[in-house]
Amino acid sequence: MKYKKYFRKTSLKQKGDGEFFLEEIKKRKPKFFLEVGVFHGVTARNVCELLFNIHNNDFKYIGLDLFEKNDENKSEIIPNTNFSNPLKQIYFKYIKKQDPYTIEAVQDLLKKFKDNVHLIKGNSNKVLKKIDMTKIDYVFLDGGHDYDTVKNDLGFCSEVIENNGTILCDDYNLSYAPGVKKAIDEYVKKNNYKCEIMRNSRFAKIEK
Ligand SMILES: C[S@@+](CC[C@H](N)C(=O)[O-])C[C@H]1O[C@@H](n2cnc3c(N)ncnc32)[C@H](O)[C@@H]1O
Repeated sequence: MKYKKYFRKTSLKQKGDGEFFLEEIKKRKPKFFLEVGVFHGVTARNVCELLFNIHNNDFKYIGLDLFEKNDENKSEIIPNTNFSNPLKQIYFKYIKKQDPYTIEAVQDLLKKFKDNVHLIKGNSNKVLKKIDMTKIDYVFLDGGHDYDTVKNDLGFCSEVIENNGTILCDDYNLSYAPGVKKAIDEYVKKNNYKCEIMRNSRFAKIEK
């Protein structure tokens, strides 16, 4: 299945990574998907299209993001939200009249699936503990890249693993964010979970 970019920015931009990601999800056919770190919503839209193909309307997608450039947690790495492509700048400024890194713009991109999608604006360090994890069967963890944030996020997603679900972590081995790998390695060891490192150490898939 082709990973589409919808004229926006995404962290799955490297050739083949998006398709690899969708194939991974297809293997598990989740019905209740959580993405931590939605950004412009490109992965969200791809996931919804895939789950719609598999389950029709019988799926849910929950997306959590700061959706804010100057959050109190300034140590988090937030991708550059400015476009270098002037056509995209014009499209969002004058045609869409939107900042694509807002919850409203992502809701707009996902409007086709409005009954399936629930977007949450907030910091995962505060919000994840309030989410009912009992039904979630797949997590794409791609939010804050701080050691403490990844440790927090994994901790609150343990129920997903215990219920035979999957956590797929992005940026496992990123030179400028070593806390991701450290937090994942410690978590997997402590809980004795299986962890498969894939795609040139980009993704870490955690299962029971
Ligand atoms: C790498 S981007 C996500 C890319 C997206 N998953 C995709 O595939 O296009 C990371 C996102 O995580 C968000 N983020 C960073 N720290 C966060 C936190 N503590 N809680 C929630 N979201 C956070 C940022 O705002 C940013 O949009």
